[in-house]
Amino acid sequence: MEDKGLQTLSQLIKDYCGLRYADRLSTLKEKISEHVSRLGLSYWEYCRYLEETPGEWDALVDLLTINETYFYREENQLNHCCYDILPTMKKYIHRPLRIWCAACSTGEEPYTIAMLLHETGLFLPGAVEIIATDIDKKVLEKAQKGWYNKAAFSFRRIPAHLLEKYFSDVDGGYQINYSIKRMVKFKQLNLLDQKKAAEIGEVDVIFCRNVLIYFDHDTTTQVINSLTQNLIHGGYLFLGHAESITEGNLGMNKINSDKSIYYRKD
Ligand SMILES: C[S@@+](CC[C@H](N)C(=O)[O-])C[C@H]1O[C@@H](n2cnc3c(N)ncnc32)[C@H](O)[C@@H]1O
Repeated sequence: MEDKGLQTLSQLIKDYCGLRYADRLSTLKEKISEHVSRLGLSYWEYCRYLEETPGEWDALVDLLTINETYFYREENQLNHCCYDILPTMKKYIHRPLRIWCAACSTGEEPYTIAMLLHETGLFLPGAVEIIATDIDKKVLEKAQKGWYNKAAFSFRRIPAHLLEKYFSDVDGGYQINYSIKRMVKFKQLNLLDQKKAAEIGEVDVIFCRNVLIYFDHDTTTQVINSLTQNLIHGGYLFLGHAESITEGNLGMNKINSDKSIYYRKD
């Protein structure tokens, strides 16, 4: 009975946000049992409660998501995009460039892109817009503050001179400077919500890194299909190292450069 309730819940979760728990019911139980028992509900009852209670999906999503991230993650890819690809795009796109970080967690990824673009010296304020989205409201609150604990995992890869240049010591932690913070706009967005994704509008580059690994094949295809609707022709898609797209590549050409692997919409 308990397993049936968990199974139904895992299906609701997959339909809502793509996270795959059907083959990991014990992990699902570990993540939510305390929350559900505090409510005094069985897993069956919780399924109904979830659908009927405003805000409950946000609470559940925060328990389920894995938000691990850090500054300068997979830096070859980031350097290649910011030092080689974007300056070239800037020459033929006569408007601010638009970059979308589609699962940004606590903000380290979009802030790294903003720092690198600042470092190129080619992008004056207003020449680039970074839209950073995530499904998890709690991580977005943290991202928006731009304040990080000094001992956090976040700083494991950042070069010391950039830490010094772009952060200030505030309340015993590091606060990202305003010059970088203002380049990034955060917004809540579920990657499965195609209507809301379309509202992001046309973008030149998409980063969707280290989130597809939590989806199954069909959900991955659906998400890539939806994301790339927003991408201009000739625009670029960057995935995490462990992620790839196949199946006719959905209109995307895989580029295997010596610096990184990415996709271009052709
Ligand atoms: C492991 S983090 C990756 C963060 C960053 N992209 C990186 O590579 O460092 C995965 C993020 O995906 C988000 N996520 C999971 N499912 C999502 C969905 N359906 N829509 C939007 N974001 C989602 C999680 O909340 C989490 O913050």
